[in-house]
Amino acid sequence: MSWEPKIVVIACNWCTYAGADLAGSLRYSYPPTAYIVRVPCSGRVEPEFIVSALVKGADAVLVGGCHPGDCHYRSGNYKALRRFKLLKRVLEELGVEGERVRLEWISGSEGKKFADIITEMDAKVRELGPNPMKGV
Ligand code: FES
Repeated sequence: MSWEPKIVVIACNWCTYAGADLAGSLRYSYPPTAYIVRVPCSGRVEPEFIVSALVKGADAVLVGGCHPGDCHYRSGNYKALRRFKLLKRVLEELGVEGERVRLEWISGSEGKKFADIITEMDAKVRELGPNPMKGV
């Protein structure tokens, strides 16, 4: 059986989730390798969620939050950014390529940006191959 990448998208309900929805409505095409999980705010994304996704089979994880200044809970996205930078360094220390995890600000009106990022991530993961942390 041939390998197909799995990209887990942890999307803030108020922005990235709506952006993904808009991408679908406007028929922006992107690879069908993205699996979207909706959360109330990117600040709610515990580092363990990302690690767990990688261990359980994701080849890459995208965390999508509201643009700075637009978080519905004021500073959730700043908290997400601080945690994310730290986690990315730890993952790299463990041998997981940094390109497998990404944090992006994608608003509800940025359907095209959502589709472009998934397309880029899919291409990058195909280049990298399966995630070495899978099943660890
Ligand atoms: Fe979207 Fe906080 S509500 S990142």
